Amino acid sequence: MVLKGKTVVLGVTGGIAVYKALDVVSGLKKLGADVKVMMTKSATEFVSPITFQAISQNPVAVSMFEEPKAWEIQHISLAKAADIIAIIPATANIIGKIANGIADDMVSTTVMATTAPVIIAPAMNTNMYKNPILCRNIKTLKDLDYLFINPDCGRLACGDTGEGKLASVDTIIDEIRNALLYPVKDLKGKKILVTAGPTQEAFDPVRYITNHSSGKMGYAIAKAALCRGAEVILVSGKTNILPPPNANFISVTSARDMYDAVMENAESCDVIIKAAAVADYRPETISDEKIKKNGNMTLSLTSNPDILKSLGEKFGGRKTLIGFCMETQDLIENATHKLKSKNLDFIVANNIKNEGAGFGVDTNIVTIIDKNGEKNTLPLSSKEDVANKILDRIK
Ligand code: PMT
Repeated sequence: MVLKGKTVVLGVTGGIAVYKALDVVSGLKKLGADVKVMMTKSATEFVSPITFQAISQNPVAVSMFEEPKAWEIQHISLAKAADIIAIIPATANIIGKIANGIADDMVSTTVMATTAPVIIAPAMNTNMYKNPILCRNIKTLKDLDYLFINPDCGRLACGDTGEGKLASVDTIIDEIRNALLYPVKDLKGKKILVTAGPTQEAFDPVRYITNHSSGKMGYAIAKAALCRGAEVILVSGKTNILPPPNANFISVTSARDMYDAVMENAESCDVIIKAAAVADYRPETISDEKIKKNGNMTLSLTSNPDILKSLGEKFGGRKTLIGFCMETQDLIENATHKLKSKNLDFIVANNIKNEGAGFGVDTNIVTIIDKNGEKNTLPLSSKEDVANKILDRIK
């Protein structure tokens, strides 16, 4: 219930994607938000207000001239109640009205009257979306700090294929959530490289050695950094997680691929955070053909480059370097040793034997140690909260 206590005023305008706004209402309610819906007349041609009323469990505002149910001017009370106004889906018409100061229906008038942030998810035919007038209107609004959720590419209701399809419901909910939870862009101007996930070390075309890293910790850091305004390069081993849409995403397979990607990009970054679980060893040789089963087998391993150590040698003292330390025993001693030997500013130590910590789970239990030896042990927290505690240390 991360959005408990927050009010989202959802402006629904007339397009075929109106029905998807119902799922947005439902998803926001599940996160604890109070959702108040207002619709344009054309939106009501696609879905009746009563459906939004049932799902939001609030009355739906459509006409500015309805007999008021209580003595309040509805567009003003909605504008004041909003922690955020989200326009889902947004037609070219509503974007044009807002950009040009026109307030002639419930949605445009409420937007005009609010001081809350406004987030807009356009959905329309590709040619309309590419129309220079619409592009100019979107630019005008972006310059005024209106937020946008870019549409997807895909098959549109008119039968065309192209840009203009309403972003997915999950993306829209995530963007509204992030706009509410991260109003301050304190990392604006910072460029942060984050590594995440496991590496895979092949020994024939079929098989490889890897570890249990899911990427959740690194992706949580990348996402939180983006929400706080940073530019993010995410270098990731293979995971099942979708990369955050605004990250510069580099997919890698082996430790040596990760080494190359990190070293190529590190110079341009202010901060490097290495949450990836990198294989210390790789098979000495990779067979061109599948190795046949023939009794027991011995695999000879050779050392991989230590990416973080190389970063410490090259950039220590010049850039903020943050490592992770994953152990099953003597956590603090081992982490302190890694912090010093790799020339880091901080190390985030986690013992994967603690329940709720380490691989695969959505939570972690970490101790952050700085280069002066100061330690801060966090209680069991979501990986998002751990990410923010790490990012709080970046100046
Ligand atoms: O991905 P999740 O499922 O969410 O799990 C999260 C996690 C357990 C992977 C994460 O919290 C974590 O601890 N990551 C670091 C894992 C690790 O490799 O720890 P280490 O103690 O072996 O390595 C120390 C540091 O050196 C790490 O920052 C590592 O990225 C780096 N390293 C290690 C070896 C190597 N060859 N090059 C490196 O850069």
